[in-house]
Amino acid sequence: MELITLMNPILALLVLLFVVPKMYNALIILVWQPFVLTRRFKKQGISGPKYRFLYGNIDEINKIKRESHVSVLDPNSNDIFPRIFPHYQQWMTLYGETFLYWNGTEPMLCISDLELVKQILSNKSGLFVKSKIRPELFKLVGMKGLVFVEGVDWVRHRRILNPAFSIDRLKIMTKVMVECTLRILEEWSDVKREQKMEMNREFRRLTADIIATAAFGSSYNEGIEVFRTQEELKKCCVRCLTNVYIPGTRYLPTPSNIRIWKLDRKMKNSVKKVVDSRLASKQDYEDDLLGIMLKSCESERKERKLSIEEIIDECKTFFFGGYETNSNLLTWTTMLLSLHQDWQEKLRDEIFQECGKDKTPDADTFSKLKLMNMVFLESLRLYGPVSYFSRDATKDLTLGHLKIPKGTTIVFPLMKMHSDKAVWGSDADKFNPLRFENGVSRAAKHPNALLAFSMGPRVCIGQNFAMIEAKVVLTMILQRFRLSLCGEYKHAPVDHLTLTPQYGLPVMLQPL
Ligand code: HEM
Repeated sequence: MELITLMNPILALLVLLFVVPKMYNALIILVWQPFVLTRRFKKQGISGPKYRFLYGNIDEINKIKRESHVSVLDPNSNDIFPRIFPHYQQWMTLYGETFLYWNGTEPMLCISDLELVKQILSNKSGLFVKSKIRPELFKLVGMKGLVFVEGVDWVRHRRILNPAFSIDRLKIMTKVMVECTLRILEEWSDVKREQKMEMNREFRRLTADIIATAAFGSSYNEGIEVFRTQEELKKCCVRCLTNVYIPGTRYLPTPSNIRIWKLDRKMKNSVKKVVDSRLASKQDYEDDLLGIMLKSCESERKERKLSIEEIIDECKTFFFGGYETNSNLLTWTTMLLSLHQDWQEKLRDEIFQECGKDKTPDADTFSKLKLMNMVFLESLRLYGPVSYFSRDATKDLTLGHLKIPKGTTIVFPLMKMHSDKAVWGSDADKFNPLRFENGVSRAAKHPNALLAFSMGPRVCIGQNFAMIEAKVVLTMILQRFRLSLCGEYKHAPVDHLTLTPQYGLPVMLQPL
């Protein structure tokens, strides 16, 4: 009895010290902040869907998306924004182009104003940083890789990695790209008259092969293991993203978490094998991406050095960045050229003129393929693999006429911005590569209207690699085959981290 009476004040003190502050914090995050922020934005004329306790608008988003993903579009329609982001479409109609919504308890401000987006992306003083992401995604891409590091670490990583994407290195990589493409074309060589091919799957295989060989050299076989595990992990992550994130729950042994942990371990082991086999080869590390990273390990200077842990995360980053986006760029461009046979013929004529019917293209070929360049730019505009990205405000700040509180995530809906008639003209929803005839900066009313690779200091490091690879692959395919869409194709683009065809891309290949 005495013990209980003695325990009661201790228990009360413990509750006071530990539980009350936690509850107070939770109340601030779950109730007070959403209330205050909603009011602050409302005063500026910005509104949006109502915040719901803990979940924000996640349930609503899932419901609207589920309904929209049942629909199939007319293949000739490039008006895909309402299918991919039906919730944005609804909210833009109700609240205007700038609106506030809630990803759980995180405030998300969606803006499409190009001038404001440019100001954010070109800022170098750390006012905006990459947005917080779900911990599951770090397992996929690597927390210490270029995509997510910030500040001095980002400067160090980018400085070390830039030479891997220099013009000279890209020329060497072009040879690898050609060899890998030849390998897959050889597999297709038994296509005699006409044959159906699921092109999205083929492009994923091919682009994974290219990045594994071009960036990680002789370690191709191990590279393919990383690719397979990453594909599986991606599926788990896409599923997770539809749930509200509750801090701490990632440590619970739920079936989904156990699967993610297992795949994460498998991927780390596969990447480590790639690194170890290069270290064991004891030869000169060469100048491919992995070689450059390993050489940096030996540097005496801290600002020139990557740790093994960072190298492993960079490997994950480049495996993922290298195939996930590029396979989709090739997929959507193939879809567009299968629909627009006139453009397919134009490109083939250009290839025959600049490279011949049978000659294997080399690094010099691609600067001559002007029409092909325009087609890829138009494909990036209408079906850019990255359909949105975001930044977090690190301080309370003023942007144009907007007062943005610290911690707000600012979302740029690229897909919407790329189809804005006020910027791209009345034919914005049409496939018209000629709009890029006089260069990217003159294709629209704003010089930075095409943001497929972003802009500013954190512009995509792999953009030249991506464009060259896409040109190599398309040139070599068009030299050999005529492409047309299969009747069974269902036009259903969907955002699964990148823009993918929900039901694949079946295409008829006809040898020329
Ligand atoms: C069509 C193909 C591609 C598209 C559309 C694309 C798009 C983008 C975009 C929009 C960003 C900026 C994201 C942000 O700021 O939040 C980015 C960054 C990045 N991309 Fe790409 N990308 C492509 C291909 C590639 C390839 C082939 C690689 C690697 C070989 C790559 C590696 C990266 C990396 C490492 C970053 C982070 C750069 C930094 O923060 O300094 N990307 N990409």
